[in-house]
Amino acid sequence: IARRVAVASEKWSDARSMVTARVVDAYANIETIKLFARDGAEERYVQSAMRRLRLRFQRFLRLMTELGLGLAVLNGLLLIGVVGPALWLWSVGIVSVGEVSAAAALTLRLNGMSGWIMWVVIRMFEHAGVIREALRSLAVEHEVRDAPKAPALALHEAEIEFRGVSHHYGKGRGGLDGVNLVVRPGEKVGLVGRSGAGKSSLVNLLLRFRDPEAGQILIDGQDLRQISQSSLRGAIGMVSQDNSLLHRSIRANILIGRPEAGEAEMIAAAEKAEAHGFIKGLRDSAGRSGYGAHVGERGVKLSGGQRQRVAIARVILKDAPILVLDEATSA
Ligand SMILES: Nc1ncnc2c1ncn2[C@@H]1O[C@H](COP(=O)(O)OP(=O)(O)O)[C@@H](O)[C@H]1O
Ligand SMILES: [Mg+2]
Repeated sequence: IARRVAVASEKWSDARSMVTARVVDAYANIETIKLFARDGAEERYVQSAMRRLRLRFQRFLRLMTELGLGLAVLNGLLLIGVVGPALWLWSVGIVSVGEVSAAAALTLRLNGMSGWIMWVVIRMFEHAGVIREALRSLAVEHEVRDAPKAPALALHEAEIEFRGVSHHYGKGRGGLDGVNLVVRPGEKVGLVGRSGAGKSSLVNLLLRFRDPEAGQILIDGQDLRQISQSSLRGAIGMVSQDNSLLHRSIRANILIGRPEAGEAEMIAAAEKAEAHGFIKGLRDSAGRSGYGAHVGERGVKLSGGQRQRVAIARVILKDAPILVLDEATSA
């Protein structure tokens, strides 16, 4: 029974996550949905998830009702089984009235307790189901791990070498296929290719967000797999295609590049990225202005290009030996 409760609760919890996911997805992309006048379809999409949630909740409640009913029947039988014989024993004079009432009182007490214990146990398995559902997404192994006792990257001149690198995202074809590329110290290299050619994939491999399916990537002769990820990413400044800013102040967003930097350095970086001008004029709904203004949902809305400039300012502030710009000025 406990197993059935856990499974029903797990399914109910799963349906609940699905509703949340669909609602959040619709709200996060509200402009696209409005633009394509998909409100009706979108509503039906969320409603189908809600219907599923309702059905699974009903199934869970039905199970609870069945259990409650089963317990009530058992308790009824217990009461009859104890009080009936006790009354008979009393009628033939074997036990006294006091003993009969004591037995009846104990049985009633047991009735109450068994209900209480059942609900506690059921609640426990209900929560076990919810936890199991959450663990399925939390307990996924990291794909990229540091080698045991991986040393930090020892950077000399920052020569980057891709040696026979292939990566198809497990599809067996397409993407990167046997890429050889050497970026010498001080060299600026531009990669050109049509959409989907694998430009972003190449830089993501350099940042070791994934390991290549074949081949090696070396910085100053050190294989990325042999060094610690934090030292690798510390050495690379990256402005990506879709920069997301944290829902914090502009200052916090730029300082993430180098938290110990001073105010003057931060402003210098913003000036280099030509962001200082518009940042000065920002003011969010809570009255915070300039670098203190918050961005994101409860703050000011920046344009795509403005977001990119803030992202550029933070890599300028980071001043890493290797700079990667992935279509950093697309907006
Ligand atoms: N996370 C991913 N999982 C599976 N396939 C991916 C992933 N990211 C990119 N791809 C595929 O790899 C190819 C190269 O993508 P990408 O490197 O982003 O191209 P671009 O040159 O436009 O930056 C595309 O065919 C894309 O569908
Ligand atoms: Mg790209």
